[in-house]
Amino acid sequence: MNESISKVVLAYSGGLDTTVAIKWFTEQGVEVVTFTAEIGQGTDLKDVEMRAYEAGAIKHYGLNLVDEFVKDYVAPAIRANAKYEGEYPLSSALSRPLISTKLVEIAEKEGADAVAHGCTSKGNDQVRFDITVRALNPDLKVVAPTRIWRWTRQQEMEYAKSRGLRIPESHSKYSIDQNLWGRSIEGGPVEDPWNEPPEDAFEWTVSPEKAPDHPEYLTLGFEEGLPSSLNGEVMGLSELIVELNSSAGKHGIGRIDHMESRIIGFKSREVYEAPAAVVILKAHKDLEKLVLTRRELQFKELADREWTNLVYEGLWGDPLRESLQEMIRRMNEFVTGEVRLKLYKGSAVVVGRKSQYAAYSLEVAGYDEGWYPTDEEARGFIQAWGLHTLMARAARRGVSKVGIG
Ligand code: ARG
Repeated sequence: MNESISKVVLAYSGGLDTTVAIKWFTEQGVEVVTFTAEIGQGTDLKDVEMRAYEAGAIKHYGLNLVDEFVKDYVAPAIRANAKYEGEYPLSSALSRPLISTKLVEIAEKEGADAVAHGCTSKGNDQVRFDITVRALNPDLKVVAPTRIWRWTRQQEMEYAKSRGLRIPESHSKYSIDQNLWGRSIEGGPVEDPWNEPPEDAFEWTVSPEKAPDHPEYLTLGFEEGLPSSLNGEVMGLSELIVELNSSAGKHGIGRIDHMESRIIGFKSREVYEAPAAVVILKAHKDLEKLVLTRRELQFKELADREWTNLVYEGLWGDPLRESLQEMIRRMNEFVTGEVRLKLYKGSAVVVGRKSQYAAYSLEVAGYDEGWYPTDEEARGFIQAWGLHTLMARAARRGVSKVGIG
């Protein structure tokens, strides 16, 4: 380590890298405070805490941040229809600014001069941590031990063994990161983009082949752009996400497999499971299409994409993210209503939608009765609508007749 520090707050997952990091810091005379965020990843936090102390931490923070994560990170992502490159619902990306914010708070409280994380030098997460921490407190140093020591997994295991560290039994061939918004599966057999992801990569979803033979219908209620009820039952957003992960996962919904353009200059093959995210984002977008005007929709797509890219690219701290988010929230003030979906063998299809603010009228749109423009009205509209185009074509042909009327 080339920076001199005396006390560090480490984002501790309980895995091999960060457990070795605790010992590695203490051997250099650095005091280590560990911090583990509970954001619905389903690990045994008591055991994580015990291992932190065994490895040499002087203090441990285990904080349940599920509601904060959902309210401040997942909710804006829903309103922004956030799917990076059209596929990835940003589950891991959204958690990094929250964890970074807490690292900074704890470091300030504990009088630490640095924070640390277990990211490698090839991933996006290091970028998100480093920039968010610096944006919040430029005086804190950010240390990434794995970037410094560059050991193989084997070397880490040997180091851990020689120091008597207890490492969680994990035979996973994959690198997993998960929270209630989704599960990222990287490495091992999925690194080759040609290989179909093996069944053992998945934990939250059954394969569509094994899903029930009968479809299930569900109704998702929205208020101001956020899901607020499931099948008529009012629910908090976290609870609703947990419930949907299980009910949509049972139908094989939420498996995502795509080529992802990383921040760090290369593409990687990424596999995700995100049943609730897939269902909610599909329903939300559909409801927006019922309520928002054509111009709002077209403009919002740009804002959504920019917000999504900023979050993916580690720029949560950029002022533009905040401004866009506020605009997107305002554009969702009338996105209230219900969406009915059919879940069946890996697909979630919207089969119905309604809203008190629908910019839709059966009277206007229906073919059978109601409002019908006269021939004259229709021709007048079409003439004005096409005039720019027709005049330009006529001019280029060298004729004066525009060709409508
Ligand atoms: N590619 C995704 C992202 O950049 C997933 C990252 C998963 N992180 C991990 N440490 N396995 O957001």
